[in-house]
Amino acid sequence: MNGKIDNGAVLAGRYVVDSQIGEGGMQYVYKAYDQTLCKFIALKTPKDSSAEKRFIRSAQSAAKVNHPNVAKTLDYFEEGDQKFLVEELIFGADLSASLLAHVEAADPYITAHIFHHIARGLAASHHAGVIHRDLKPTNIMVSGGLKLEAIKITDFGIAKLAEREFEEAIDGGEESIGNSKTVLGALPYMAPEGIEDKNRISMASDIWSLGAMMHEIITGEKPFGAGLKAIPQILKGSRGAYPAFLFSNNQFRGANTEVTSVIDQCLRLDPADRPTADELVSACSNLCYPETQRILGRLRDKRYKWGFIAENPTNRDVFYHSDSFYGTPPVEGDEVWFAKYPSQMGADRAHPVIKLK
Ligand SMILES: Nc1ncnc2c1ncn2[C@@H]1O[C@H](COP(=O)(O)OP(=O)(O)OP(=O)(O)O)[C@@H](O)[C@H]1O
Ligand SMILES: [Mg+2]
Repeated sequence: MNGKIDNGAVLAGRYVVDSQIGEGGMQYVYKAYDQTLCKFIALKTPKDSSAEKRFIRSAQSAAKVNHPNVAKTLDYFEEGDQKFLVEELIFGADLSASLLAHVEAADPYITAHIFHHIARGLAASHHAGVIHRDLKPTNIMVSGGLKLEAIKITDFGIAKLAEREFEEAIDGGEESIGNSKTVLGALPYMAPEGIEDKNRISMASDIWSLGAMMHEIITGEKPFGAGLKAIPQILKGSRGAYPAFLFSNNQFRGANTEVTSVIDQCLRLDPADRPTADELVSACSNLCYPETQRILGRLRDKRYKWGFIAENPTNRDVFYHSDSFYGTPPVEGDEVWFAKYPSQMGADRAHPVIKLK
């Protein structure tokens, strides 16, 4: 037995496969029901038998980490010649599908919130001596969609499974890289020392990857570009300037200056110059961001510089001023993502307001 599992299959005498959730370059991911503990779980199994030896090591690494910002590893078993990892099932989607697919760029407050949560999970993993090696938006699971109710890191150490694929792709040049979904997906977030020599990958390489992810979240662009062209840029640490919209509005300039300065520290070329995960958690604690839940709504009744948003699903009016728009300004009828605060004026007030794609 290798590869795909049929729906309805019972594994280890307790896990009933419900459906396939996803498929990356290295593994299949299934939703399954644990008949013993009566709950759904995520079941992961490697695609490639040559990578299987490393699968147990990846499971053992992940199992050492116990933190609310890390998807919990629950079990590991072998059935026939196939290996399986049982993980907490996150009802949601990865960071790419839940956030980057819906907004051009996130405002500094929500970026700081995401940064802080991932940094906390990463600090717990580094305390346990575990390097992630493949931090990227598809390895961050989010539940609650744009409400970002929970943010959890997954797939610790799994990049070890693909080491050979990485080496061959990078040695083979543009065509090999273009043929490997795994390498194409990971490359934009890979630290320079890891591209040069996999033996130099350290905890500081995870910090770089987190910085690269946060750069993408706050600007909407990968910091060093994508594909083979990213390699020389990463090795030189040469990024373009942050887009002007981050600093053009007084309302957001201060917060963006603070968040981008933490991102810049993560993306320092010399690994020794980057903050540790603990230092990063403490830097994120100093970023002021409200823990107010984000809501969806539709812009209506737009006047000269203000108007109302019909909150979803209540249709209640929330007041906005256009100074609270972040990124491309929405127009009447556009769907928006916002936080709201009580106001003495009657209606609650929205800030910030972001146009959905
Ligand atoms: N614990 C989980 N709970 C729910 N869904 C999950 C869980 N872990 C992973 N997934 C889903 O499965 C999909 C496939 O995951 P997988 O790790 O195989 O690929 P990937 O991370 O997208 O890419 P790559 O293989 O290139 O690293 C993810 O994008 C995610 O949506
Ligand atoms: Mg993954």
